[in-house]
Amino acid sequence: MTTNTMLKLAARPKGLVTRDNFEISQGPVPEPNDGEFVVKVEMISIDPAMRGWMNEGKSYVPPVGIGEVMRALAGGTVIASKHPRFKEGDMVTGLLGVQEYAVSDGQSITAIDTSSASLADWLGGLGMPGITAYFGLLEIGQPKEGETVLVSAASGAVGSIVGQIAKIKGCRVVGIAGGAEKCAYVTDELGFDACIDYKNDDVFAGIKEHCPNGVDVYFENVGGTIFDAALSHMNTFGRIPVCGMISAYNATSAPDGPKNLRFVLVNRLTMRGFIVFDFFDRYPEAIKALSEWNEKGLIKFRQDVREGGVHAYPDVLNELFSGGNNGKLVLKV
Ligand SMILES: NC(=O)c1ccc[n+]([C@@H]2O[C@H](COP(=O)([O-])OP(=O)(O)OC[C@H]3O[C@@H](n4cnc5c(N)ncnc54)[C@H](OP(=O)(O)O)[C@@H]3O)[C@@H](O)[C@H]2O)c1
Repeated sequence: MTTNTMLKLAARPKGLVTRDNFEISQGPVPEPNDGEFVVKVEMISIDPAMRGWMNEGKSYVPPVGIGEVMRALAGGTVIASKHPRFKEGDMVTGLLGVQEYAVSDGQSITAIDTSSASLADWLGGLGMPGITAYFGLLEIGQPKEGETVLVSAASGAVGSIVGQIAKIKGCRVVGIAGGAEKCAYVTDELGFDACIDYKNDDVFAGIKEHCPNGVDVYFENVGGTIFDAALSHMNTFGRIPVCGMISAYNATSAPDGPKNLRFVLVNRLTMRGFIVFDFFDRYPEAIKALSEWNEKGLIKFRQDVREGGVHAYPDVLNELFSGGNNGKLVLKV
């Protein structure tokens, strides 16, 4: 009999996750009841938000319970179905969890066409990170031709697409990323105008040099001292879509700062947090635009595909917090 291997949350992590925070358990492959289908999971999306989902306390979704399969966006093939909309052989993505087989009633599940794009792209540029970049930049950032857009975590799944869309919209685009290699990728491959290496260079001085007309849109992925440096260079009536604050996701004490929030006041900035689900009804619009730009060669997607199955999850997740990933991080099952 084939078994289902599942990774369950065993204890709430303090700081970076360790293998002890999880337990691997085995069970039978689920059978679908009426209105359900079973998916063989092939690829799991590894996202910074997962670390937050492990914490107790109020957030935009309830925490993953102790003993529950770790929540994850993932993709795979329907292998059995008693559901009116999903049939055997369909490829799907959605909240399927860190496990080899998942049963679903179709909620949060999307059918995808893997003849036009790979499963990894459906979890990356055409999936949640691409959609996040699209709405965060265009709806909240409101970039206008000739303006300067600054993006942190610029080489990653969301940041890389934010910058490329901002170029399409005729902006000067400056990235912030860790290391010379990532910065070279951001400028040479993605076409940003400049990139500041926050691990080796002074970010404040870098923004001053590369954004000579100030910053109109700062797309915030990181928080902490990078946020402070960006805030100091914002133009009057600038916009800050607050997408993520990855520098604090493993913090064990309250982070310092921000030290200069007064710039929000004196420069009359608009700073708005958002979660991609806020735009759920408009996902098709984003997917259409992202696919068209990708087909025309205006936007590149890059995936970082890891092997090792569900057992490798804790180590692969931690790569996001050291910058060990190069592009959208996914785990093959
Ligand atoms: N609001 C939403 O709905 C939504 C949806 C998706 C993602 N997000 C957020 O978007 C951000 C990017 O996510 P992603 O999926 O695209 O991940 P990603 O950028 O592909 O990977 C994370 C990157 O963050 C950078 N990083 C990690 N720790 C850092 C630190 N202390 N200081 C500066 N940079 C650091 C690393 O890049 P370097 O090597 O350059 O340091 C790392 O490669 C995250 O904050 C995430 O939570 C939000």
